[in-house]
Order: sequence, then structure tokens, then C-alpha cells
Amino acid sequence: MKIFIDSADVWAIKDAYETGLIDGVTTNPTLIMKSGRHPEKVYQKLKDMGIGDISMEVVGNAETMINEGRRLKAKFGDCATIKVPCTPDGLLACHTLSKELIRVNVTLIFSTAQAILAAKAGAAYVSPFVGRLEDNSHSGVEVVRSIVDIYKKHGIYTEVLAASIRDVAKVTLAFWNGAHICTIPPKVFTKMYDHVLTDAGLKIFDEDHKTTFSSERVGGDMDRLDGLSYDFPTGIDDGFTYTIDTPETQGTVDFGDFDPGVGFNP
Ligand code: G3P
Repeated sequence: MKIFIDSADVWAIKDAYETGLIDGVTTNPTLIMKSGRHPEKVYQKLKDMGIGDISMEVVGNAETMINEGRRLKAKFGDCATIKVPCTPDGLLACHTLSKELIRVNVTLIFSTAQAILAAKAGAAYVSPFVGRLEDNSHSGVEVVRSIVDIYKKHGIYTEVLAASIRDVAKVTLAFWNGAHICTIPPKVFTKMYDHVLTDAGLKIFDEDHKTTFSSERVGGDMDRLDGLSYDFPTGIDDGFTYTIDTPETQGTVDFGDFDPGVGFNP
């Protein structure tokens, strides 16, 4: 299960990458345009950061894509994944580059049939566009599931990289439906950490931690905890009752009748 960042914003990618949870980056011509940088400047910065898998999209006819793919691989080495569209030219380029052991990501996948052709062309990754399918009233995650199923049935090594992911729920659904990789915009990745109950629970724990070490209780000095000890009560547990030998709870603490046939009756 891998998480890629779908962006060409080097600062946002750096923040995400520094979490240690990111396995790669996908870019596309739109994201590059929005970054305001030359594509190769973006790729170089990402490579310098240590990112080992960067999808670099090429355009044009098969010949142009093949030449660009070879050039990018020669320039950026192993971190270069060449991204081609799922068209006859794109798949021809994929076939040629894959035979040269260059990793290819076939993008703009909207159907299982397209993913079958991409796998036949030797793609390392196929990128079904979940969000854009949903924009058009199709279930994007269902397309992910059906590609994953067919690849499994036929022992295909191509990995399914769910793309066009716009919210956290889709990340979960894509992985639940077998996606090997989700590529996620930085903002969505950050939101994956969030839960209102985590915030509320953390607030309570922080308060309780402060109280434990408050000056009233231990003089605000951690060293004063040294030497403090607590005698844990001893007792006998016969499986049904626990007898504790402390003055406060002398005697038997009865946890109720236990009938293995019926269950526990408190
Ligand atoms: O990786 C493809 C992705 O960038 C497309 O996302 O939101 O423009 O459909 P979106």
C-alpha cells in the first residue's frame, strides 16, 4: 500500500514527504503549469529531496513520447516514471519504453478495458481517475475494484494507482477496493490525520498530564517523583472471583456468575 502526492508544488510536497509516509509523486501538465516552474526544475527539486518515484508526463505522438521518455530517464535516472495517456500512441510508447525497463504510468484511464490494454503494453502503473469518473456519474472506485480483480485473476504485475482523488473517504475506498497506490493532493493527505475525537481525546490527555505533574501535586519537579512508590494490591484470581488483600476492599470482589454455556452475567 503506497501513498503518492499528486502535485507539482515543491513546498507542499516537501512538507508531505518529511512525514516519512510518502512513496512517490505524480505530476501532470496542469499541475506543472500551476506551479509556474519548468517541469524539469520541478523534477530536479523532487529528486534532490530524495523522492524515488516521480511520474513525469510526456505528450505528442508515439515517437515524441518515446524519445522524451528515454531522455527523461537518462537525465533523472531511476526516479523517473514516464507518464503516457491511454491512447494508441501512448500505449505504443508504453510498450517500447517498458521493454527498455523504463517504468511507465498509463494515465487517463476511465475503464477496465483501457486498463487491460495498458497492462498488455507492459505498464508499471495504471491511473484510473476516480474523481473525474464520479463527476460523470460513474463509480470511480468500482472501476478500481474491477481492474484490481482482473489483474489478480490473470497474475498481472501492473499496479493500480488511484488518481483524481479529492477527499479522504475516496482514499479509504480506493484502498479498500484493492488499489495498490493512491495519489493524493497535499491538502487531502493532511486531512487524513484529522479526527474530531483525536482532538478531543488529546485535549483531555494533555490536561490530565499537566495535572499529574502540576506544582500542587509534585512541586512541578519531576525528580520529586523519584522514590515515590505504590503498592499494588495482591490477590487471588481463581477465574471467577478476585480476592484483593487491601483494607479498603477486603474480601471477595465478585464478578458475577459465569456460565460457560450462557455467557457472562454481570
Ligand atoms: O493524477 C491525476 C489528477 O491530478 C487529476 O485530478 O482532480 O484534476 O481530476 P483532478
